[in-house]
Amino acid sequence: MSSYVTRKTPGDTEWFTASRFGMFIHWGLYALPARHEWVKNREEIPEAHYQKYFEHFNPDLYDPKDWARQAKAAGMKYAVFTTKHHEGFCMFDSQYTDYKCTNTQAGRDLVREYVDAFRAEGLHIGFYYSLIDWHHPDFPIDMLHPRRDDPDAKQQNEGRDMRKYAEYMRNQVRELLTNYGKIDILWFDFSYSNNNGVGDKAWMKGKGKDDWEAEKLIALARELQPGIIIDNRTEIEQDIFTPEQQQPMEWVRHPETGELVVWEACQTFSGSWGYHRDESTWKSPEMLIRMLVNTVSLGGNLLMNVGPTARGYLDARAEAALKVYADWMKYNSRSIYGCTMAEPEFKAPADCRFTQSVDGKRLYLHLFAYPFIHVLLPGMAGKVEYAQFLHDGSEVRFSEGGMEHFGEGVPRDKDLLVLNIPPVKPNVLVPVIELFLK
Ligand code: GLC
Repeated sequence: MSSYVTRKTPGDTEWFTASRFGMFIHWGLYALPARHEWVKNREEIPEAHYQKYFEHFNPDLYDPKDWARQAKAAGMKYAVFTTKHHEGFCMFDSQYTDYKCTNTQAGRDLVREYVDAFRAEGLHIGFYYSLIDWHHPDFPIDMLHPRRDDPDAKQQNEGRDMRKYAEYMRNQVRELLTNYGKIDILWFDFSYSNNNGVGDKAWMKGKGKDDWEAEKLIALARELQPGIIIDNRTEIEQDIFTPEQQQPMEWVRHPETGELVVWEACQTFSGSWGYHRDESTWKSPEMLIRMLVNTVSLGGNLLMNVGPTARGYLDARAEAALKVYADWMKYNSRSIYGCTMAEPEFKAPADCRFTQSVDGKRLYLHLFAYPFIHVLLPGMAGKVEYAQFLHDGSEVRFSEGGMEHFGEGVPRDKDLLVLNIPPVKPNVLVPVIELFLK
C-alpha cells in the first residue's frame, strides 16, 4: 500500500483521488465576445454593451450529451461546470435573479442539462460558483470590478450591501445543492482580501472569507450535501488545494503544517478558460499527456478545461485536445486511475515519470523522451517480476546486474535492472512500461 498519508479532509476525497482526471467547463455570456472570461474586467465594458451578450445569447447547438461522451472518452471521471462566473450571469434557473439563462433565447436550464448528461455517462458532478459578481447590485465595486475606473464609481457604490450579496450567494448555493440531485464538488472562486485600492481608490477593498461569510456558505453546503468536496478559494481550507496554470514540482503540502494535502491542478488547453476565438497558445499533444502524468506522479489530480462556444459546442481545437487524451487513455489509463506518487525507493530515470498503484503492486514508467534501446533502473534488481508495454501488453525483457553485451561504460551493478526496449518508439505519445513488482 502507498505509504503517503494526506491531511484529513471534511469531504469524501477517496473517489476523487482515485479518479485523477476531470473536465473543467467555463461557459457563460463571455463566450460571445470570445476573448477571455475576464473580458468585462479587462476592457471595462459598459453595462449597456455587455447587455447585448445577454440579449444575443442563443446556444442553439448546445448538446451536453456530446460533451459528456467526449469527456468520458477522454478518461475524465468528473466535471466542474461554471454555474455562475465573475460576470454574474447564472447558467441555471435561479429564483433570486433575472440575470439567468432561462431569460435569454436559450430559454432552458443549462445546468440541469449538464447534470443530466454527465451523470448519465457516470461522471461525478461538480459546480463552479464565482464568489465575485460584477453584475449584482449589492456587490461593492473594487479593484477587480469593471466599473472601477468609472468617474462616478464611488457614487455607484453607495448603498451596496455586501451582507445582502452574501445572503444572495447562500440562497443560490442552496438552490444548486437542492435542485440538481447529488453534487460531488463545489468549486468556489476566488478571494483577494489583500487587493485594496490606494489613493482616491482607497475605498475599494479586496474581499475574503469574512466578506463572503464563507463559514455560513460552507456549513450550508455540507448540511445539504454531506461528503461534498469543497476547494480552498473562500480563504477557508476545505478538501482540495488548487494550484492553477502551473506544474507543481512536488506533492503539494499544507502551508502551515507541511502535511501532504489532496490537491488538484487546473489547466486550460489554451491561454483562456472561456472560449477565445483568436488565442493560439494551445498546448501540444505531448504537453497534454505529460501534464496529466506529471500531476499524478506527484499525487495530484488534473482538472483540464474546455471553453464552449456561444453556439454551445466544443470547437475543433478543444475536440482535438480531448481526442489526444482519449487515444492515450484508451490504452494507458491503468497508470493513472488508482495511482499516485511512487514510493521513495523508486527514482525515475531522466525524462521519465513513475506512478504507482495505491496497492503498491504495479509501477508505471512513463517515457517522456524515448531512450535508445535500454532503460537503466538502479536499485531495482530483484524487485520486478514481469514487465510489459501498457498500450499493447507486449513483454519488455530485462536483465539484472548490467547490460547483456557491449556494456562498456555502463556500471556492472548487482542492483541494476536494465529494461530492453525496441529501437523504434511505439506509436504512443508517451509510452508506458508496466512493472509488476514482486
Ligand atoms: C482564475 C480566473 C478565473 C477562472 C479560474 C479557474 O480564478 O480568474 O477566470 O475561472 O482561475 O481556476
